[in-house]
Amino acid sequence: MTNSKKYIIGNWKMFKDRTSAVRDFSLLVELLGKNQGQQKNFVAIAAPSVFLSVLSEKTKSFVEVFSQNAHWEQEGAFTGEISVAMLKSISVSGSLVGHSERRQFFGETDQTAGKRVGALLRAKMKAVLCIGESLAERESGQLEQILRKQLLSAIEATGLGEEREFLGDTPENPLFLIAYEPVWAIGTGKSATEQEAEQAHGLIRTILAERFGKTFASCVPILYGGSVKLENIETFLACPNVNGALIGGASLDPNLFAQMCIK
Ligand code: PGA
Repeated sequence: MTNSKKYIIGNWKMFKDRTSAVRDFSLLVELLGKNQGQQKNFVAIAAPSVFLSVLSEKTKSFVEVFSQNAHWEQEGAFTGEISVAMLKSISVSGSLVGHSERRQFFGETDQTAGKRVGALLRAKMKAVLCIGESLAERESGQLEQILRKQLLSAIEATGLGEEREFLGDTPENPLFLIAYEPVWAIGTGKSATEQEAEQAHGLIRTILAERFGKTFASCVPILYGGSVKLENIETFLACPNVNGALIGGASLDPNLFAQMCIK
């Protein structure tokens, strides 16, 4: 990556109630506000959908509010879904897509994930495409094959072809991001080693370069996710191909998370 800015995104999953969500987000804004001089990183919280509206009223330029999912249609008979247009109307600036929990429990596929990414990028919102292998896939030597399939199938399903549609108008602040999250490391306390993360990120960068060229590949931030915590975040961020972190459990405490954002 040409710039050294890191992307730190908290994933609150299905935790908190209105009171704690507002309290914790407000504290995060306050803590990061005090560190404005030091903080050069991009920070966002992917919050449960019912809190997006109230939290987006409290955002500042240095901490954004993301959704955890977004539907590809503008509107329609899709009970339980939220459209990109709805998110945009309440100033949500991006969304996670294809998280492994969506894939595992809610039938998300590379194709549906790709359609969501396409809708977000067309609306000039950020899309964080989550990919990663299971333990069985890793142990049977399928890491590269799985990453290639997940990445290229989703890109194909976006329906977009131009690099500019993925990067947006400011390639130094691209719309398309990838989170590499090995399924066996999510919520388990057992993170990948920095060598494992760097290797997978290198593979992802190579696959992107084969598809779109080296310049494009160097612009796309690749975040590591899976049991990232205060004690290990720096080692991940020091890896040349790791451009940030997607943080679940350790993002729930705003004091802890704020410290991770200024690493
Ligand atoms: P974790 O979750 O940090 O709790 O492992 C990461 C994620 O699911 O994005």
